[in-house]
Amino acid sequence: MKPKKILIGAIVVSAIAATAFAHGGATGIVKERMDGMSALGKAIKALAPMMRGEGTYDAEAVRQGAQTIRAHAGASMTKLFPTGSGGMPSEAKETVWQDWQEFSALAEQLHLYSEGLSLAADNGLMMSQDTQANTGSMMGGSSTMMGGTAPMMASTMALEELSEMSADGVFAMVSQTCSACHTKFRAEAK
Ligand code: HEC
Repeated sequence: MKPKKILIGAIVVSAIAATAFAHGGATGIVKERMDGMSALGKAIKALAPMMRGEGTYDAEAVRQGAQTIRAHAGASMTKLFPTGSGGMPSEAKETVWQDWQEFSALAEQLHLYSEGLSLAADNGLMMSQDTQANTGSMMGGSSTMMGGTAPMMASTMALEELSEMSADGVFAMVSQTCSACHTKFRAEAK
């Protein structure tokens, strides 16, 4: 009986390791979507300091980052989540496939907002704009805060409106979309 017990113990340990090193253990389409998500993470991280007003604002860098995000959003994202591709080592919850409509709507929303970010890049940061533009951005900011609980509300925002917002206002909406989807559809190892 003793050897069997050890074997089960080893299986449990390796399952825990698979959770901790999810990305490393992934292959095929699961690895592909993790790579896509990692590219998103890098793009967001690269732009975040600039959006906080650190360093020199670079509209071209914003457009490039937005383009990277766009390339991994929408259908490019959802096609990497075929039915039955959940489970170890993926962190995708079963809700992805149970609530596919909401999941794909968030992926589309990310696509829309990243396009909006490209268009808003030249508007610069909220603090550098006049009072009128400022108000618009503040409104955008507050609606994204609510987006945490009701992400669909902001999804009706048209590209034209986004293009008139400050870059950091749209950036906040982009990041909110990442969080909104992760909250519902990603089991984080934390
Ligand atoms: C439509 C839903 C959705 C959106 C939008 C989304 N993600 Fe994800 N993300 C997921 C899911 C689901 C996973 C887990 C994938 C897996 O493990 O199979 C994930 C995983 C990740 C990971 C971990 C990848 C790894 O190596 O395991 C990172 C980093 C990440 N996302 C960043 C982002 C960023 C940044 C954004 C926004 C720019 C974003 N995601 C937008 C659903 C989404």
